[in-house]
Amino acid sequence: MPIHRRVFIASSLTAGASAAFLPLIQASRAEDDLFELTAANNRQYLFDENAAASDLWSYNAETPGPEIRVRRGHKVRVRLINQLEEPTSVHWHGIRIANAMDGVAGLTQEAVKPGESFEYDFIAPDAGTYWYHAHNRSWNQVGRGLYGPLIVEEEVEAFDREHDLTLVLDDWRLDQTGALHLASFGSLTDWSHGGRLGNWLTVNGKSNPKFQLTAGEAYRFRLINAANSRVLEIDPSRFGAKILAFDGHALPEPVFLPYAPLLLGPAQRVDLLVRPENDFELEELSGDQSFAFANFTVSGSARASQNEVALAPNQLPEPDLHAALNVKLDMTGGAMGGGQPITYQGKVLTGEEFRTTGQVWAFNGTANLATEPLFSAKAGQSVVVETINNTAWVHAMHVHGHHFQIVERSGSTIDEGTLWRDTFLVGPQQTTKIAFVADNPGKWLLHCHMLEHAAAGMNTWFEVR
Ligand code: C2O
Ligand code: CU
Repeated sequence: MPIHRRVFIASSLTAGASAAFLPLIQASRAEDDLFELTAANNRQYLFDENAAASDLWSYNAETPGPEIRVRRGHKVRVRLINQLEEPTSVHWHGIRIANAMDGVAGLTQEAVKPGESFEYDFIAPDAGTYWYHAHNRSWNQVGRGLYGPLIVEEEVEAFDREHDLTLVLDDWRLDQTGALHLASFGSLTDWSHGGRLGNWLTVNGKSNPKFQLTAGEAYRFRLINAANSRVLEIDPSRFGAKILAFDGHALPEPVFLPYAPLLLGPAQRVDLLVRPENDFELEELSGDQSFAFANFTVSGSARASQNEVALAPNQLPEPDLHAALNVKLDMTGGAMGGGQPITYQGKVLTGEEFRTTGQVWAFNGTANLATEPLFSAKAGQSVVVETINNTAWVHAMHVHGHHFQIVERSGSTIDEGTLWRDTFLVGPQQTTKIAFVADNPGKWLLHCHMLEHAAAGMNTWFEVR
């Protein structure tokens, strides 16, 4: 479903015309003190306050949930209180975390039942832009709004809070009244195609918010793609922005992206260095026409110097490609796939069973968690995972508990060079090799972050002993 501004909306409605300047997201510190996150039902306007409100599920009564800020290397303590009607858990996306705190219901913890709570207690080892989200029935829980930004600060932050903007981006499917379309959650058509795609974008839960910037000053924009399945297409050069970091990891220096557009897959983050000169809009380019979804007014003149701003790198272990354990991950299934057999819970699915189980994608022939891990490595072992996308669709692959380098790309056009990331896109018929040191003991997921694809089979796990 392409994004098209007025596809769904009654002609009398116009969006966001009166919106005031949006204040920065209020940040909360979760180090030292115990921080509370309460998951509960919430009603929120996604389109416009003259349209219908949406039935969301949120942390602390707003989507996105509170921005949690911690300092690199510090202890984070968060109590999750579940006031939803179904079990839930919180995953700290991109944090190289202790396994028991990873928040994967059914693998690293039991889902927290309604009325119960769970205390997360971990260290955040890397600075950068991360996020947290529900990790039980994620296609439903994240799709309804259970997520928020998690910012890990450096010892000395390069940008003060006025020049540090978190922009949590989401893609929603709204109905004719402007409210979240609920009946289509779980649609097998979405699951077997490109996932749940929407027709409306928000920034920090608002329609086309306006931000005020000062000309010439240096700003850090932290973009987080919280969409279930939409690969956002953005061209930072349209407003003169350079890339500071991907998935939390600083580039050696800020650079202009040598190609356009930037593809920001579900769960991926990019930090931009913006020195605004004139008013501009943030536009999304994947639809049949560009969709402006945030508005920046630029005034005054610079008080900052024109010095380059660089971020301090995180320290990650370099994989040894020669001594690596080589693992193959063959991705199959989905609409317009090759019809390769899919095994689910020990049984090869046939005919009707695809519909009744909802399992239509497979890794190495198996849908969802196989009993055996994809691989089992001794702590410290370098691993290369060769991901072969034998499907007709792009996927956003996420490794839990580790960050990896993209070391090789072939067969398709997505290519961002050698980078540290926690989530990578792999195009249709593309093969991508990633490498990392398996140094974090425990059982870890490796899955597609298009949440419908994950639910429909694109889930596996590995073990570090
Ligand atoms: Cu962002 Cu398995 O998750
Ligand atoms: Cu996928």
